[in-house]
Amino acid sequence: IIERAARGELAVPDFPALVADVRRIHREVRADVRGAVADYIPQLARVEADRFAISVCTVDGQRFSIGDAGVRFCLQSVSKTVNYCLTLEEHGPDTVHRHVGREPSGQGFNELTFNKAGLPHNPMINAGAIMSCALIQQGLDAADRFDFVADAWRRLAGGRAVGFNNSVYLSERTTADRNFALGYSMRERGAFPPGTDLLDTLDFYFQCCSIELTARHLAIAAASLANAGVCPLTGDRVFSAGTVRHCLSLMSSCGMYDFSGEFAFTIGLPAKSGVSGALMLVVPQLMGIAVWSPRLDAQGNSVRGIEVCRRLVDCYNVHTY
Ligand code: DON
Repeated sequence: IIERAARGELAVPDFPALVADVRRIHREVRADVRGAVADYIPQLARVEADRFAISVCTVDGQRFSIGDAGVRFCLQSVSKTVNYCLTLEEHGPDTVHRHVGREPSGQGFNELTFNKAGLPHNPMINAGAIMSCALIQQGLDAADRFDFVADAWRRLAGGRAVGFNNSVYLSERTTADRNFALGYSMRERGAFPPGTDLLDTLDFYFQCCSIELTARHLAIAAASLANAGVCPLTGDRVFSAGTVRHCLSLMSSCGMYDFSGEFAFTIGLPAKSGVSGALMLVVPQLMGIAVWSPRLDAQGNSVRGIEVCRRLVDCYNVHTY
């Protein structure tokens, strides 16, 4: 970084100005207490609603974090991004998309709905993410399968060990009627690849949702996606550029559930949210941003998370169009 700074080649040359803006946005948005913590997973309802972190990591590794950026939270649906990337790396897009579509559903993230071919609409909603889990390393046993996903997150996050929230996992598993319904419905339609064990697949899906990261580490992972699959801190190529391109495309069109169209219109950047209040925003070729604030709006997106994105796009010309 020092060499690049000396040559005047930093991705964000005036990083201190960005830091000042992020500080201001954090201060302003903190006052926003709209929304409610997700309570359909009992253990998730116990997080402190007022937690708030913003973390930034550029593609050349300049970093800044503010607020609760060292506190771990569950990825929930943010895990769908990496799971999709892993399916692409293992099977290629043609095979993967024989089992999952790539159109926005226009409906809630756990809606019991499928496309005309009887497949999940896309990998960024629950049905599609359950499908991703069926496609990842079917030959491995449960422990190795989990390690395989956790290891991808670890590498994306700069080699930092990721956590796992067992009580959220157990709590979700016992209250997941909708996800079971999605799974059985897809099995009835013959959507899964041969050899899929539905209950193992669902269990694996719940485990992936309960992987924990801090905002600091999620921002590094987002920066790895911004950097076409190479972690800016370690130089480790975790995913191919093609895999990341597909993932960012679907994050742009489907990453914010039934708010995805509005998000694409106003923010214009690939993003993915989770019901834990996590939000991962990618500014391709520039930086990754993680926001964590558990209060959610009606679509299940973090209220403050969306507000932070809005304000960032207001002061920086990063909207794709
Ligand atoms: O399957 C579920 O319902 C949760 N584990 C994940 C949903 C989620 O994060 C959707 N987010 N907004």
